[in-house]
Amino acid sequence: MTQPKTSGQEPSTDLKSNATKSVADALNGILADSYALYIKTKNFHWHVSGPHFRDYHLLLDDQATQILGTTDAIAERVRKTGGTTLRSIGDIARRQTIVDNDAAHVTPEAMLVELHKDNLTLVEALREAKDIVDKAKDNATSGVLDDWTDQAEERAWFLFETGRRS
Ligand SMILES: [Fe+2]
Repeated sequence: MTQPKTSGQEPSTDLKSNATKSVADALNGILADSYALYIKTKNFHWHVSGPHFRDYHLLLDDQATQILGTTDAIAERVRKTGGTTLRSIGDIARRQTIVDNDAAHVTPEAMLVELHKDNLTLVEALREAKDIVDKAKDNATSGVLDDWTDQAEERAWFLFETGRRS
């Protein structure tokens, strides 16, 4: 059987090049925001205080682990669809839309509110990415975006209910 000739430079995908770029841009933005959200969740895990310390400390660690657990798959979807992905902390900083929090003190209540909002920001980016990958007929990315969306919505739900005072 004759193998197709390649120069070694062709991407390993049959997605059109403009589709590859839009899928990569969407996923790389989500990847940058996932790292920003991961480090903020860890930051609050490390610095939370008060009567709910143990509950919040453990909740935030679970959430950080879940967020970090998605990052490799996001980056590898970019590579599988012919794009290139993040290379550095600087690359993350240039692309992130979730804003860092370097405050010396944040109340536990404010931590929950901020992370709830940030997870919903991620959900919105995931929804936008879903439109882009569906237009590109990138079915596999579309499928895993559903899982990542469900996880982000679950984190938002836990944060909201944990912070509720009535
Ligand atoms: Fe820890």
